[in-house]
Amino acid sequence: MDKLYEEEHPDIVVNFAAESHVDRSIEDPELFLRTNILGTATLLDACRKYGIKRYHQVSTDEVYGDLPLDRPDLFFTETTPLHTSSPYSSSKASADLLVLAYHRTYGLPVTISRCSNNYGPYHFPEKLIPLMIANALADKPLPVYGEGKNVRDWLYVEDHCKAIDLIIRKGTVGEVYNVGGHNEKQNIEIVRLICKELGKPESLITYVTDRKGHDLRYAIDPTKIHNELGWLPETKFDDGIRKTIKWYLENRKWWETIISGEYQNYYEKMYGNR
Ligand code: TYD
Repeated sequence: MDKLYEEEHPDIVVNFAAESHVDRSIEDPELFLRTNILGTATLLDACRKYGIKRYHQVSTDEVYGDLPLDRPDLFFTETTPLHTSSPYSSSKASADLLVLAYHRTYGLPVTISRCSNNYGPYHFPEKLIPLMIANALADKPLPVYGEGKNVRDWLYVEDHCKAIDLIIRKGTVGEVYNVGGHNEKQNIEIVRLICKELGKPESLITYVTDRKGHDLRYAIDPTKIHNELGWLPETKFDDGIRKTIKWYLENRKWWETIISGEYQNYYEKMYGNR
């Protein structure tokens, strides 16, 4: 980091880097603590040392824990208490606290965004949407955890990036902004939609053992970023998911290379006896 900061003299640092897959964090928590907490501390310390106009932390709605399935009236706001479920979300919440502490203690100019589930191009194939696309294309079973009724609030990745850009330019230092577009779907709805779009039979859907500690529902209240910064999502889910599927069809080499290597060991470990 010293070398990088000395060479590049960054004025704005956005920390997108993280171990982000809940299932992997259940297998190997320590890796998540190192990357997500100590990695954040390393960046924050470099920012203190070299000076910075803004440090932005890309966080997650998972720091708020989950919401019950039978209370569709409830949403996460920026003041919802942190209440994490997995080693992943705990590591992200820890990093958020560290970022806010560096603001209060050292006066570092920070902002934090907490976004809902992203989807779109370059999504690593371990995650729900790209995994289901890759498996469906290979006519392999589509492993749905539990009953597939868990709800996620999906946002097209470019809308997330636009929100981050806006926060960096117009957001208030020391503040947290929730990012999400009121687009809640049950996992099974997404998997069925992918089957339909790819012309694959729903008989590929296989219900497998649930994830440990599986969060039931995530749902963001984006009122603050809308009112204060004028952000609104631009991509509708139906368009975004079609664009995403098209991207995976046109960029097979990218993800086929990934899933042909070390990833196969991961897949066997996670899904082999599930
Ligand atoms: P994921 O993409 O891992 O994101 P997150 O856990 O951060 O929300 O999973 C999204 C949802 O899909 C989550 O409820 C778990 C579920 N899921 C499956 O049912 N099968 C799978 O193979 C995967 C990877 C996820």
